[in-house]
Amino acid sequence: MLREFLRTLNVDCPTWARQLGLAREHAAIAARHERARAAWAPHLAASGETILAGAARCPTRRRGLIIGAGDCLDVPVAELVDQFDEVWLADVVVSPAARSLARRFRGRLRCVSWDATGALARLAGGRRTITPAAARLLFEQADPGPPPGGESDLVVSANCLSQLGLVPGHSLSAAERDKKLPDACAAAAARRHLDWLAKRSGVRVLLADSARLDIAPDGRVLKRENLRGRFGLRAPDRVWRWQLAPIPEWSLEFHRVHEVGAWIDGATTSMEPIQ
Ligand SMILES: C[S@@+](CC[C@H](N)C(=O)[O-])C[C@H]1O[C@@H](n2cnc3c(N)ncnc32)[C@H](O)[C@@H]1O
Repeated sequence: MLREFLRTLNVDCPTWARQLGLAREHAAIAARHERARAAWAPHLAASGETILAGAARCPTRRRGLIIGAGDCLDVPVAELVDQFDEVWLADVVVSPAARSLARRFRGRLRCVSWDATGALARLAGGRRTITPAAARLLFEQADPGPPPGGESDLVVSANCLSQLGLVPGHSLSAAERDKKLPDACAAAAARRHLDWLAKRSGVRVLLADSARLDIAPDGRVLKRENLRGRFGLRAPDRVWRWQLAPIPEWSLEFHRVHEVGAWIDGATTSMEPIQ
């Protein structure tokens, strides 16, 4: 716990994002990865392979942009830096790991604190008073503006879609009365992000949770929550499972597993199946 708290102090993150729980969430993800490293490895490898499959479809490679880059656990940074003139890592939280990558690849890689929703600064200002309807509307209508660094040949949304509205939604006072509010914020922010992504001119790679599953030790699926329909996503090009929280990480009774989808759009249409 103390380690996680200290980790929150070491990230670059605007006050409004801290107020909405994003520095804390970043530290929690990093700590969970340390505890569940082996279980996460196949998911991280599949994410990296898919990002490189997207890069291979880029006819020009001037700039690559990773949204939700975090600690770049799922991003093949060295390979991208090799292939693109410049790579931008964008996340509302800039971690020591991202800063260290920027130093290692100085001049080719930059990290920037950027809110992919465009809603968070205003939301934080009203977090104690905003109504559920106004919070949803804010996510639906907010504009994050142009991509950091300008339009890119490759834009990757890296396993952050379901988090965009969910984490801030939980920080709102209104969520104490309206238990469905975080999920409603998650859906509104996800749909808005997908609209924004669809307007980009380069190759787009979306890595995102398409379902959340609770799985018993004997393999029975106890609960399945589908996110794909909620977010309005077509069938993914690739799917795999992320052993996010093996017992006893989240629960003593079930493993929390995410079904992750990959969607690649732009440049060419066909996609190699993952081996
Ligand atoms: C599950 S993590 C993704 C993992 C990350 N790609 C990695 O390998 O470490 C989700 C990431 O999305 C970021 N994020 C959440 N909300 C965001 C927002 N509004 N704008 C930009 N990044 C956001 C979080 O800070 C976190 O780093």
